[in-house]
Amino acid sequence: LSTERQRPSATAGARSSGLGRRGAALLVAVLAAAGCRNDMQDQPRYEVNAPSRFFADGRADRPLVPGVVAAGSVHDDPVYELGSVDGRPAVDIPVPVTRDLLLRGRQRYDIYCAPCHSRVGDGDGMIVQRGFRRPPSFHVDRLRAAPAGSFYEAITQGFGVMPSYAAQIPIDDRWAIVAYVRALQLSQMAPASDVPPGELAKLDAGETPDASPANERRGGH
Ligand code: HEC
Repeated sequence: LSTERQRPSATAGARSSGLGRRGAALLVAVLAAAGCRNDMQDQPRYEVNAPSRFFADGRADRPLVPGVVAAGSVHDDPVYELGSVDGRPAVDIPVPVTRDLLLRGRQRYDIYCAPCHSRVGDGDGMIVQRGFRRPPSFHVDRLRAAPAGSFYEAITQGFGVMPSYAAQIPIDDRWAIVAYVRALQLSQMAPASDVPPGELAKLDAGETPDASPANERRGGH
């Protein structure tokens, strides 16, 4: 390199041949270094639970900083995340119950719950018809009076032979399903005064009432 710099008057041709020589030297150096390179897949690191002479306690695993929490595991709103307060199921649904929430809840319910509990919640789902244990109807007095949090807990933790659906159903959707189960319960016990006047006449005539506002996502799963 220094020879190159000491020839400021060199012609373009001479310079390029000088670069060629340098390039060749560099190539040799790179090839030589590659012979003893340290691959990324082989870098110095500790295995889990490995011993270490570097740390005073002899362990490679470092103890967690006091107060540290894993991402997503903060229960700062126990009602929303656990469905209970002080171990007792929450009475009410802790999110605003909107039409969108109910529509979402119906769609999720029809996917995850209807196979056993049936679309109307009477416990006569397809899997039950083929031999699975029959769940209680959601329309019995005990479950109509049950706190919202107990439905959330059944989804989250499972209940008897019913498995937990926590892995499949995120928290928001669990509450959407609970809200929809409440709507199902209401639908089976609604007094005639809850039915809009026009629809009541149709019911009396034995027609299926027009549930169009709630029907637009029918079969959308
Ligand atoms: C594979 C069938 C199956 C599916 C799917 C299922 N359940 Fe269940 N569920 C049952 C059975 C069976 C029981 C009764 C368990 C028992 O007695 O051992 C039950 C019990 C329950 C209970 C408790 C009722 C009580 O007696 O207190 C609730 C609430 C419930 N299920 C809600 C749901 C919801 C909401 C979903 C959808 C996320 C769902 N289940 C999905 C089969 C199922």
